[in-house]
Amino acid sequence: MTDQAEGLRKKEAGIASGPDPSLPPRVISVTSGKGGVGKTNVTANLAYALSETFGKRVLVFDADLGLGNMDVLFNLRPRWTLKDFLFEDRSLSEVLVPGPAGIRILPAASGVEELTALTPEQNLKLISAFDQLGEEVDILLIDTGAGISENVLTFNLASQETLIVVTPEPTSRTDAFALMKVLNRRYSGKPLLFLANMVRDRREGLELYDLVSRVADRFLPDLNLSFAGYLPQDPSVTQAVRNQKALAEMLPGAPFSTAIRQVARDLLSRPPREMLQSGIGLLMKRLVDSRQTREGVSGGG
Ligand SMILES: Nc1ncnc2c1ncn2[C@@H]1O[C@H](COP(=O)(O)OP(=O)(O)O)[C@@H](O)[C@H]1O
Ligand SMILES: [Mg+2]
Repeated sequence: MTDQAEGLRKKEAGIASGPDPSLPPRVISVTSGKGGVGKTNVTANLAYALSETFGKRVLVFDADLGLGNMDVLFNLRPRWTLKDFLFEDRSLSEVLVPGPAGIRILPAASGVEELTALTPEQNLKLISAFDQLGEEVDILLIDTGAGISENVLTFNLASQETLIVVTPEPTSRTDAFALMKVLNRRYSGKPLLFLANMVRDRREGLELYDLVSRVADRFLPDLNLSFAGYLPQDPSVTQAVRNQKALAEMLPGAPFSTAIRQVARDLLSRPPREMLQSGIGLLMKRLVDSRQTREGVSGGG
């Protein structure tokens, strides 16, 4: 840890810091309607902040199956990927790769077509493997792909909370709305957290949130949407991507890095209501439920 990072940690950690061995892991998916809005950067930097600044044990799952690039962002050269876990019987602990600040990463395979639509059995295999890691993990972050494909929906339905990344581009807004609509239809009342990315300041972030939540109030009255914060448009993000490092690590004092620590702090200060009786076991149940709902068996989620 650099001196600067150490200083920030001491200053910012506050009461929410440290591992939570007695609690089941908190499972947060990071998603968006439109691609290219910053999900992977948000996930990587949030993971770094939660781990480095707040001392949480973080597992990152690159669930942009078939097109994952979390390993590239963290400059990892994974020997095995999700593909080896699902098809070659590698154990999850063999496939997990250590990242910065003690983060562990489950890398997705890139360009593997079989992974673009996981079967329910593959989903269950994955989820039960996560379940066994439960005691070693405080927070599981899932970087999903964009859009409303079945894989994306599955991971978003299975998590306890879904962070929806939205930028000021009108297409990002409308696609986010479409995604919320589909998610809400499958799982009414699912906690959705709105994260404004690439905005000028908090004010623009809140304006963006107001715009979307006003439409939601009108058309999706039972939507459970709240504001998770904002991240500024910051040219250093691109620089960090080129350097294959999380910006929060590369430049802890950059505006984006400060903002992501604030998002992490706010998340930790508002654990989900179902936290205590849930965790990854619930994730598994939800997956089964969402399958049943889809197949018209009975109500889920
Ligand atoms: N807050 C930001 N400021 C500036 N550039 C950003 C910001 N967030 C993301 N980007 C840039 O947007 C591009 C897409 O980001 P990425 O995380 O790969 O999106 P996604 O995973 O949603 O496809 C990257 O080139 C990244 O550098
Ligand atoms: Mg991505």
